[in-house]
Amino acid sequence: MKFFVDTAEIDAIAELNDLGMVDGVTTNPSLIKKSGRDIIEVTKEICDLVSGPVSAEVTATDADEMIAEGRKLVEIAENIAVKVPLTWDGLKACKALSDDGHMVNVTLCFSANQALLAAKAGATFISPFIGRLDDINIDGMDLIGDIRAIYDNYGYETQILAASIRTVNHVTQSALIGADVMTAPPNVIKAMVNHPLTDKGLDAFLADIKAAGIKIL
Ligand code: G3P
Repeated sequence: MKFFVDTAEIDAIAELNDLGMVDGVTTNPSLIKKSGRDIIEVTKEICDLVSGPVSAEVTATDADEMIAEGRKLVEIAENIAVKVPLTWDGLKACKALSDDGHMVNVTLCFSANQALLAAKAGATFISPFIGRLDDINIDGMDLIGDIRAIYDNYGYETQILAASIRTVNHVTQSALIGADVMTAPPNVIKAMVNHPLTDKGLDAFLADIKAAGIKIL
């Protein structure tokens, strides 16, 4: 499973990247706002750091403007994936930009039919938002499973990018269902290491190391 980091915070990306945990980065207008940085400037910095796809989202809602913005965004670096919303205009932009040979991430996906449309429009990535479905009492994982089944039925190459991941369990479930990629905030990725039995076991080993005076160096 590919890991994308869902943030525009350079230090957090760098820390995970040094550990080989970063196959790509996703940003959105809310994350850019949170960073307090200029979108072009911060996106370029991320692209300099990470060799995998870096999603940068358009701001327009009209197809022609989205296409123009997308063509500007891809000038930042070769690894830009233009992120467009799952609207009719977004699908038009997706088709035009993917026909140009650019990676496109179609975002704000909340139904299997939307995902089917995105695949037909040539999306490189489809981003179903798990957490936001959970927020309204709909199991976001069912959507990931439905999209996986539909894409596999017809051999669509669009990659399922599980997004709006809020918990470590979302990561496990997405991986079990077969999402190609998951994007999560740095704190969720780092929380994946935690297990109380690891901590308990280490405490016991440390006590024995001390008691026995075990030294290696
Ligand atoms: O990847 C999409 C993500 O940034 C949205 O997450 O938690 O705002 O629903 P959230």
